[in-house]
Amino acid sequence: MQFKNRITELLGVEIPLVQAPMGWIARSPLASAVSNSGALGIIETSSGELDVIREEIIKMRDLTDKPFGVNIAQAFVRDPKIVQFVIDQGVRFVTTSAGNPQRYTQELKSAGLTVFHVVPSLDAALKAVDAGVDGLVVEGGEGGGFKNPQDVSTMVLLPLIRSKVDVPIIAAGGFIDGASMAAAFALGAEAVQMGTRMVSAAESPVHENWKQAIINAKETDTVFLNRAHSPALRALRTEKTTRLEFETEKNVMAEFGQALELYFGGDMEASIALTGQVAGRIDSVRPVADVIAEVKAEFFATVSALSKQYL
Ligand SMILES: Cc1cc2nc3c(=O)[nH]c(=O)nc-3n(C[C@H](O)[C@H](O)[C@H](O)COP(=O)(O)O)c2cc1C
Repeated sequence: MQFKNRITELLGVEIPLVQAPMGWIARSPLASAVSNSGALGIIETSSGELDVIREEIIKMRDLTDKPFGVNIAQAFVRDPKIVQFVIDQGVRFVTTSAGNPQRYTQELKSAGLTVFHVVPSLDAALKAVDAGVDGLVVEGGEGGGFKNPQDVSTMVLLPLIRSKVDVPIIAAGGFIDGASMAAAFALGAEAVQMGTRMVSAAESPVHENWKQAIINAKETDTVFLNRAHSPALRALRTEKTTRLEFETEKNVMAEFGQALELYFGGDMEASIALTGQVAGRIDSVRPVADVIAEVKAEFFATVSALSKQYL
């Protein structure tokens, strides 16, 4: 059995699974492990550390001969030459997020890149298709990270967008295994993107305290912050984020504090640990290769069991 669809063709991967871009986390150790497992690793640019990112991309070429991509999170772009920077790195695939799809799509496509835009609503999806993107990352509000303040769950958003657009879709928000991937495919996706599962993977560079907090988290242990402002975000429940949960007066972004003290120093109160609800389903730190091999086997077992029972 093999995956063969528009996304495996477009990305040149064996397994239509994409590792989420995540500031400071989506770098060569994690992304190369994903690409070497047959899925697609992504290198982040949201940290804004473009000199480091350039080195990371050089390292990727040593660590893997498989395809990988880059993300441009528009809200975090500090360097106006980011598009040229990405083009210069010679990558073939880019996801754009947190911004206007009209801004970068044509420039990236003219340079021969395949462009997917991340969308949290049907209106955003239609706008991105209008802007000429090759595909969409449809991201439900249960996922970790920066979010549309009007969040919609993957279960509602994915089939809705599928029914209105023809471009290939990568589903994001809530995916960790082959059964949830099969569900996404039933709803019209041709790939899934995993964020929280990858933060807690063995090759993820974050401090053990964050990984353990994900393992200990129940499905109710994330908070949706900053709904009254923008961007909203979904993060792990800690003392700090519980205090901020119903804050409407001030913009919670001001409380981000020292992110790296949390990410790499393990002080879970130093900042806000972007994490999705699916943390409630994660019970161990595992190497990326194991996770991806199991996703693949479970996907086919799920599809086959369903067809045996119902066809
Ligand atoms: C720690 C963290 C950082 C993230 N940073 C980014 C980012 O820089 N750019 C982006 O497009 N998405 C970012 N996201 C969102 C992910 O790309 C992904 O869509 C989301 O995590 C999927 O939901 P899941 O957490 O349920 O897997 C981030 C998510 C997390 C958990």
